[in-house]
Amino acid sequence: MLIIYYEIIVNIIAFLMYGIDKFLAVKQKFRIPEARLIFIAFIGGAFGAFMGMKLFHHKTLKSKFRLVPFFLVLQICLAGFCLYQNLHIVVTEYDYASEKTSSSLRVVQISDLHNQFFGFKQRYLLDKIEELQPDIITVTGDVLDSNHTNYTLAYDFFEGAVDIAPVYYITGNHEFWLKKEAFDEFVNDIEGLGVVFADDTAFDMGGYTLVGLSDKSLDDNTLSELVSDKEKFVLLLAHEPKYHDNYKNCADLALTGHVHGGQFRLPGKGGLISPDFEFFPELTEGAHEYGNMTMIISRGLGNSVVPLRLFNYPEIVAVDINK
Ligand SMILES: [Fe+2]
Repeated sequence: MLIIYYEIIVNIIAFLMYGIDKFLAVKQKFRIPEARLIFIAFIGGAFGAFMGMKLFHHKTLKSKFRLVPFFLVLQICLAGFCLYQNLHIVVTEYDYASEKTSSSLRVVQISDLHNQFFGFKQRYLLDKIEELQPDIITVTGDVLDSNHTNYTLAYDFFEGAVDIAPVYYITGNHEFWLKKEAFDEFVNDIEGLGVVFADDTAFDMGGYTLVGLSDKSLDDNTLSELVSDKEKFVLLLAHEPKYHDNYKNCADLALTGHVHGGQFRLPGKGGLISPDFEFFPELTEGAHEYGNMTMIISRGLGNSVVPLRLFNYPEIVAVDINK
């Protein structure tokens, strides 16, 4: 959103600068230096500058101002590239086999939505989920963002998701940072839709156990207290992957997120930075084995502190669990 506000403001300023300079030229008064008129176009205001040139018939014949339409084309291409990087959803599918399961199950994991907008009523995201025909939808935290909180976008997602399959939702660090009263009210609302709030709860799903951990319980005894039957297949939902040592003795398959794929993915290097500002973090995506447990890390769908993804498309994870 900050980028959008910046673009709106810089383009209005650019448009006004060209209009004011034209007015000053007519009145033969002090003028705005040409370098400044070009600079405002260069730093993102090319559309406003171009419109100002055309509307006020100003600087249209000066050769150096041919830079303005050139900047405009560059900025349109850059905006298109960034939008594609941040809104093009990819699906990563995993096959998981276990002797402990009695039937097959397709789990779709949604993580770190961070109030990202994916079309009216989140339709683009929901259509992608629907195509995968999940048996359950698991939501592993940070649906809401504590820096740019938007309960409506999160509610729209849950409202559509419950029409596709049963939804199990745990909190991430961002929900933990929200005002408690407002978040409790939100949970109440989505439970009214049919969403199962799974924080620090174990569910007997028939052939397997589903366990959800809240973000504050990732590294304490909560998980071991929740898992009573280790003979049964345990599917764990936990927001942060770094506590895998705590998960591995209790879970067979853990679904995690939090790291956003490292935000920018560099060829040969992987993810650049974690939300905890760790550079080149070890765990950013994919499946990892710890003893008998497999942990999958989703790259997630949205952004938090850094409002841009690069070579790191928003991801939906789909896991087929079979005997
Ligand atoms: Fe996150």
